[in-house]
Amino acid sequence: MSLLEIQGLTQNFGGLCALSDFSIRFEGGELTGLIGPNGAGKTTVFNLTSGFYSPSGGDIRFKDRSIIGLKPHQITGMGVARTFQNIRLWNEMTVLDNIRISQHYNMGYSLWDALARTGAYGNGERKIHHTAMEMLDALNLGQYAGEFPKNLPYGIQRKVEIARALSIKPSLLLLDEPAAGLNSSDIQGLIQMIRWIHETFDVTIWMIEHQMAVVMNLCSWIKVIDFGVTIAEGTPEEIQNNPAVIKAYLGDDNI
Ligand SMILES: Nc1ncnc2c1ncn2[C@@H]1O[C@H](COP(=O)(O)OP(=O)(O)OP(=O)(O)O)[C@@H](O)[C@H]1O
Ligand SMILES: [Mg+2]
Repeated sequence: MSLLEIQGLTQNFGGLCALSDFSIRFEGGELTGLIGPNGAGKTTVFNLTSGFYSPSGGDIRFKDRSIIGLKPHQITGMGVARTFQNIRLWNEMTVLDNIRISQHYNMGYSLWDALARTGAYGNGERKIHHTAMEMLDALNLGQYAGEFPKNLPYGIQRKVEIARALSIKPSLLLLDEPAAGLNSSDIQGLIQMIRWIHETFDVTIWMIEHQMAVVMNLCSWIKVIDFGVTIAEGTPEEIQNNPAVIKAYLGDDNI
């Protein structure tokens, strides 16, 4: 059984084919990159995999079950977590609360328990608090637990969003441009953090990234799309030397 198997995935928006016949398969444990120029269709792949879009064609199977038609929260509940290209933290809540609310869906108590403040609710809340704090501490973010995200440096906000995604204990983690907007020292810290997460947790990581230093450092396999079409895949060395990839990024003149 593979963890994720995408076959022939296609997405049209009106007359625009944003993604065409995209396929990939993860056995579990990989750290894989998805790259391509602006507008190539990368985020569309993640929006389809996390249930934000419903595809025009093709299939996505997660743990041997088609997830086409499932809602984003159902797919999250199966163990797929993601971050967003533009950070989506709740700025009116503390960092700790941002992480706590993401865990509520699977806590084993009903809304009625929560309203009536029954024992199940109390135990669930304590467990959520504990797990959230544990995750922040593990990622060296414990000192920010009581802060509001908007008051934190951008690099820390990126890490908090990753912590929130991880706190649901996903088996697949989708990172959409985690290094976007970071300076070079933040990027070094991010590379170390992602490597540590991959080594420490039992999680498959699939990442979109424009920062080549990040992708080439971390990923053992990279897939490249351009105008929705897969143009190459391979190891970092193979991708760096692939003429079709160089052409897509730089144009014909640079070959
Ligand atoms: N909801 C939508 N409705 C219409 N067009 C869309 C929608 N989402 C994406 N597109 C279009 O699909 C194409 C692929 O977009 P996508 O966001 O997947 O690109 P990307 O590879 O993530 O680019 P970037 O590197 O700039 O983030 C673009 O032309 C985009 O305008
Ligand atoms: Mg994108």
